[in-house]
Amino acid sequence: MDYKAQIAANIANITDIPAEEVFKLTEIPPQLDMGDYAFPCFILAKTMHKAPQAIAANLAGNEAVLKGMENAVEAVAVGPYLNFKIKKDVLAREIISEILSSGDEYGKSNMGEGKNVIVEFSSPNIAKPFHVGHAFTTLLGNSLSKIYSRLGYNVIRMNHLGDYGTQFGKLITAYRLWGDEEALNRDPINELLRIYVKFHDEAVAKPELEDDARENFRKLEEGSAEEVALWQRFRDLSLDVFNQLYDRMGIGFDNYNGESYYAKMADEVVDMLKEKNLLVESEGAQVVPLDEYNMPPCIILKSDGTTIYATRDIAAILYRYRNYQFDKNVYVVGIPQALHFRQVFSVLKKAGFDWADNCVHVGFGLVKFKDNTAFSTRKGNIVKLDDLLNETVAKTREVIVENNKTRGGEMTEEEIDFIAEKVGLGAVTYTYLKAGRERDILFDWDEMLDFEGDTAPYLIYTYARSRSILRKAEEQGYKPSGPDSVSVLTSDEEYALIRSMGDLPDAVRRAAAEYEPFIIAKQVSLIARNFNRFYNNSKIINSDDDQLRAARLTLCECLCDAMKSGLGLLGIDVVERM
Ligand code: ARG
Repeated sequence: MDYKAQIAANIANITDIPAEEVFKLTEIPPQLDMGDYAFPCFILAKTMHKAPQAIAANLAGNEAVLKGMENAVEAVAVGPYLNFKIKKDVLAREIISEILSSGDEYGKSNMGEGKNVIVEFSSPNIAKPFHVGHAFTTLLGNSLSKIYSRLGYNVIRMNHLGDYGTQFGKLITAYRLWGDEEALNRDPINELLRIYVKFHDEAVAKPELEDDARENFRKLEEGSAEEVALWQRFRDLSLDVFNQLYDRMGIGFDNYNGESYYAKMADEVVDMLKEKNLLVESEGAQVVPLDEYNMPPCIILKSDGTTIYATRDIAAILYRYRNYQFDKNVYVVGIPQALHFRQVFSVLKKAGFDWADNCVHVGFGLVKFKDNTAFSTRKGNIVKLDDLLNETVAKTREVIVENNKTRGGEMTEEEIDFIAEKVGLGAVTYTYLKAGRERDILFDWDEMLDFEGDTAPYLIYTYARSRSILRKAEEQGYKPSGPDSVSVLTSDEEYALIRSMGDLPDAVRRAAAEYEPFIIAKQVSLIARNFNRFYNNSKIINSDDDQLRAARLTLCECLCDAMKSGLGLLGIDVVERM
């Protein structure tokens, strides 16, 4: 039963505040012994002409606040708050049966049924290295996609590749002059980067290179076979490299239409804006003024008649709406592009498309490194994701090898490799997602690989520990009992653990509403802390009471489902032992 919703409905019935408002105001008290929910009565003071304390006392005595849950809930006034205490055993049974019935999909719902959500994320640029900033959008977008799917939405994952622009004319020129076939096949991105940098170096003395590049870009736009073939090759080779990274991270997309795809639809955008009389000439360019939105105008066509980034984004939105009638169109792109998206959305709004309000830019912060020397061998300050992953996995492996030694070396090399890869990738992912997305991220290996800290290794280890308890129990013939016998779980640690698992579904909904996976990260982390407290204070397999042992094993089983579900939504895999 959704007690919070029922409480809200009941209070709404006897006051003049709508249920949604009550729902929003209702809090979880800071300490468990204060109850499960608290409604602050301040808001009623005006209309009821009484002090909040008196109102709380009054409501506590009104049977109607408990309608439909009389046997499970008690209402008490605590100062200006009306607190609700759900009978521990009733709530525990409900939470545990919910977890056991949904397994590692715990937290799922059908609130999104029949609705399309587009999540655009990753969107790297062809022929350029995939750096740690692209990793942020990739991991954040992947997590948001999973969260929306879990809530029943139909999610379309889009990768808006940066595969268009005058730089491709330069690449074609550079390739014809200096391209090294063998290097291109072996390490395409570095080779493309090398000739691109060389182009800029040489063009200083030989400006005619720029003319050649312009000419090549023009041919490319006109669809000239040779130039298109070269561009296609650069694109395919780059995408192969990106796909290796995506595969390694277990991430996939439904659509890779890049900017080149939408460039072809620019006419449609121009026609539409012309028809609505929104295009204005300014210094030779065609723009949509956005003064009424307090923004600089959005350029649609440059003075030479070519499109810009924004034109292609507008074309892309029209395409998306036509194909998916999205309920939400989410862009996971760095904060520096905030103005660009506000402009693009405002152009559509001005053109009369009300669904422009359902387009959302989800920005994120910068990525920094505590130990800069770790990557100082590479020139420039861009750090490639590949290097970050390899370095982290190698460091994780060292820790796991050590732990394995102290446990008598029971794991094979193969197993160690497998676990190090999963835990290492998890550590990177968790570092990106553990705090609000607009905060900058600081990579610090000592911190992110601390098996006792707020880290993926700690969380995965907690899962593996619980799994190992269940395995050992099974070997000794002990089984979890299921939801009905949990009334024997009465300690504070047990209740805190159950309660924190019970709050996970709400965390999933809030994470979706705020585009903030860290809300789930925090909940999972709390669950893990509570589990370890329970584990340290209670006998599980060694319990002398059969019923208690079985009920505690049930808790272990629930912990595994809740952790696997929550971590899975962040894009982090668990391992069965470590
Ligand atoms: N390719 C761009 C970059 O690497 C990001 C594209 C963002 N998406 C968009 N629809 N404009 O910065």
